[in-house]
Amino acid sequence: MASIKNKQDGDKMVKMILDCDTGIDDALAIGYAVHSPEIELLGITVCYGMAPVDYTYRNAKKIVQLLGSDIGVWKGAEKPLVLEKEYNGLIHGMDGLGNTLGNVQPEDLVDCPSLHAVDYLIEKIYEYKKELTLVVTGPLTNLALAIKKDPNIINLVGKVVSMGGALTTPGNVNRYAEANYAIDPHAANYVYKTNIPITMVGLDVTRKTLLTTEDVANWKQKGTELSCFFAEFTQYYLDAYKKIHPYLKGCALHDPLAIAVGKDPSFVQTIPIHLEVEVEGVSAGRTIEDLYREESNPLQTEVSIKVDAERFMEDFYKNIV
Ligand code: RIB
Ligand code: CA
Repeated sequence: MASIKNKQDGDKMVKMILDCDTGIDDALAIGYAVHSPEIELLGITVCYGMAPVDYTYRNAKKIVQLLGSDIGVWKGAEKPLVLEKEYNGLIHGMDGLGNTLGNVQPEDLVDCPSLHAVDYLIEKIYEYKKELTLVVTGPLTNLALAIKKDPNIINLVGKVVSMGGALTTPGNVNRYAEANYAIDPHAANYVYKTNIPITMVGLDVTRKTLLTTEDVANWKQKGTELSCFFAEFTQYYLDAYKKIHPYLKGCALHDPLAIAVGKDPSFVQTIPIHLEVEVEGVSAGRTIEDLYREESNPLQTEVSIKVDAERFMEDFYKNIV
């Protein structure tokens, strides 16, 4: 069982909740957050995304258990606000973790809290207010539902960091859209239009933070139960990238970078911009400047356009296993 690394004094730590769709890089993000001494991970909420929500719940619980942590996991949205969701397992496997865990069994869900993830998010935002950083590494469905249920959280929460979108670079599901925002463009557009304080960590920067075959071999060599499991499912992700994104020569650490920005915004350089997410046609999910937003709103959307990739990768390797 991995030990939880020494944490900083509580008052200096970033109080964080991770909302994810436990796919492979979400799982690495959980490990990175739990091991980061600067982060107090208060809880994990999941939604559908890289696998159905029962799978993303089971996957998150498995990672937390392997990390020797007692952090709670709350189950949320089962589908996008408007669109339908299909699963192909291309990048993350049909089970969301490189087909390492297979089908969800009834016993995997017995300890699932009755409190819905959306209600958990609302509760914690009221409890921690500006102290709370919410990192979202899946579709923005849970957050959109939480805002719809209680719009006060827009002005209560400290900040949101969302892995998603692509401003200056092509998407990864098509030329226009990145997966998290393509899966639920209505949720993403709704969240950005609420003017909640949010930093977008999109493909513009996450394509610059790549894990290589050698890194995964090092995890295998380390030989712990955790490092070997990380190596096993990340190999699936690496193989998928070799087939679908061969030009990258590695697999993108999309979600871990969002965690890094949550604990230290200086990992990226951002530009302030009123953002909208297109919801119709071939470009649904595309992130583009919202020309119709009144300038009078305080501008609370920051989009990451540059990353200190070397410093991030060093911090990630130091903390992941
Ligand atoms: O486009 C990459 C994003 O979609 C990552 O968060 C990945 O885990 C998937 O959710
Ligand atoms: Ca994800």
